[in-house]
Amino acid sequence: MSYKQQVAEKIASALVNLGVEEFSAEKVRDMLETPPNPAMGDIAFPCFQLAKALRKAPPMIAGELAGQISGAPLSQVQAVGPYVNVFLDQQSVAKEVVGTILAKGSAYGDRNIGQGRHVPIDLSSPNIAKPFSMGHLRSTVIGNALANIMEKHGYKPVRINHLGDWGTQFGKLIVAYKKWGDEEKVKAEPIKELLQLYVRFHEEAEKDPTLEDLGREWFKKLEDGDEEAKRLWQWFRDESLKEFMKIYELMGVHFDSFHGEAFYNDKMDRVVAMLEEKGLLVESEGALVVPLDEYDMPPCLIKKSDGATLYATRDLAAALYRHETYDFAKALYVVGGEQRLHFQQLYKVLEKMGFEWAKEMYHVPFGMMLKDGKKMSTRKGKVVLLEEVLAQAIADVLKVIEEKNPTLVNKEAVARQVGVGAVIFHDLKNFRLNDINFSWEEMLTFEGETGPYVQYTHARACSLLRKGGYQPGEVKLAEGSLDSKEAWAVITLLNSFPEVIDRARENFDPSQIGKYVIDLAQQFNKFYANVRILAEEDAIKASRLQLVAAVVVVLKEGLRLLGLQAPEEM
Ligand code: ARG
Repeated sequence: MSYKQQVAEKIASALVNLGVEEFSAEKVRDMLETPPNPAMGDIAFPCFQLAKALRKAPPMIAGELAGQISGAPLSQVQAVGPYVNVFLDQQSVAKEVVGTILAKGSAYGDRNIGQGRHVPIDLSSPNIAKPFSMGHLRSTVIGNALANIMEKHGYKPVRINHLGDWGTQFGKLIVAYKKWGDEEKVKAEPIKELLQLYVRFHEEAEKDPTLEDLGREWFKKLEDGDEEAKRLWQWFRDESLKEFMKIYELMGVHFDSFHGEAFYNDKMDRVVAMLEEKGLLVESEGALVVPLDEYDMPPCLIKKSDGATLYATRDLAAALYRHETYDFAKALYVVGGEQRLHFQQLYKVLEKMGFEWAKEMYHVPFGMMLKDGKKMSTRKGKVVLLEEVLAQAIADVLKVIEEKNPTLVNKEAVARQVGVGAVIFHDLKNFRLNDINFSWEEMLTFEGETGPYVQYTHARACSLLRKGGYQPGEVKLAEGSLDSKEAWAVITLLNSFPEVIDRARENFDPSQIGKYVIDLAQQFNKFYANVRILAEEDAIKASRLQLVAAVVVVLKEGLRLLGLQAPEEM
């Protein structure tokens, strides 16, 4: 049980003694505050809300209440104005927190809220034959972290890469390839080459509009299973995916499913039939739509006048498929904020179809990646290939390592972990809805609020353990070994890690953990700078090293949840 919980229960039962019944421990817990200054205690309980029930002034209530609360883990209870301020017994809390962390290791903070139920997470989902954009990077990084967080709390995440591998553009691409394509070139640089073919198609189609018809014809052939069309499509898809896989491998992200839009090609008739049967389809200018006027939304387009299905149709089929396959507890869609309306329409249509479970579908939107105040573009000839960003980050880190620690073994591997980590962390330290300013300096410095900083702090702590000859074993904290204010700040942070993960899960917000590991790294570095460790006598040194070991566990686990590795030396 957390300390807050224990304190809340003591206060709740004291309140019952004072004759107030309506404040449960749960409610009290939510009212607890952290005093602005550690000298005022560790936990504060404001008494304003009790004034009515007790018909007394809050300071008086605080005084009465303070006299009724005592016992472990409290060392002192004071009434200060309308507040009851509680001091925790640092020695026993330290022992409990450090002991728990060292006993549980990376399982510290595990919970079983999900009870093994599935959570499909739609993430990354780039488009075949198009560059992997910064938006796809954000989706990959945020979605992967959310999957780790859900898993930590007992859910079974299913990472689904809903590839954009279907649609009329593939008819156009086939036409362009047949006219102007070169097999060798596509094999050498698939995305670049296919993108060029696609661009050329549009240029030529301006002069010769019959090309558009040809494109439609080939997409129709593809939908109907024509051999040649299928073979080319499959090849474009394989080659593009091969290129995307390089990025995923570098980033250490894996997927449980690559069922993209094409997978639903044969599953859409059923959706259209269901919509028909439920009387939800309306004809509008030859197309079939589900009107959503009652929600002040434009209608959801289901079928075009030429019979072709759409992005939304495929997402409807995908939602049904995911529900039937995974019987999910929740389903997440980690997709940029530009698609907010699309997902709102999707949920409303499913609701109109009578599917209660649509309430458990969540669009998890995010902001844009900006460079010099403008959206980072992957089109317009200038392709900011993510692979280049990652390669650059790795090369920069390698340079720093060559300078600072030239004898490090595995330099390349460490540079990869830190370079990639820098890119991931640069994203996840920000609340996802905020736009991010892409900045090399901000991303790569070992000193600011960065991935490398947290990783470096972790490595320093590991090296301290090595130098001190730390041995895992029973936690014994020598009297007075951890009574500095620096140690206490580290301990209270360590203690709050589980709550931080709770908040991250509840709000689909990995930045809670990103900010937390920065805090912990900073507090730890203050502790390290102000408190002697290795030069102390054995019992004190051993106690302090145990705190360091607990910090190592939590930093590493926090980084892991975000999708970063934690090298032990760098
Ligand atoms: N391929 C789409 C894009 O790049 C993202 C797909 C998101 N997932 C979904 N189920 N609609 O914009």
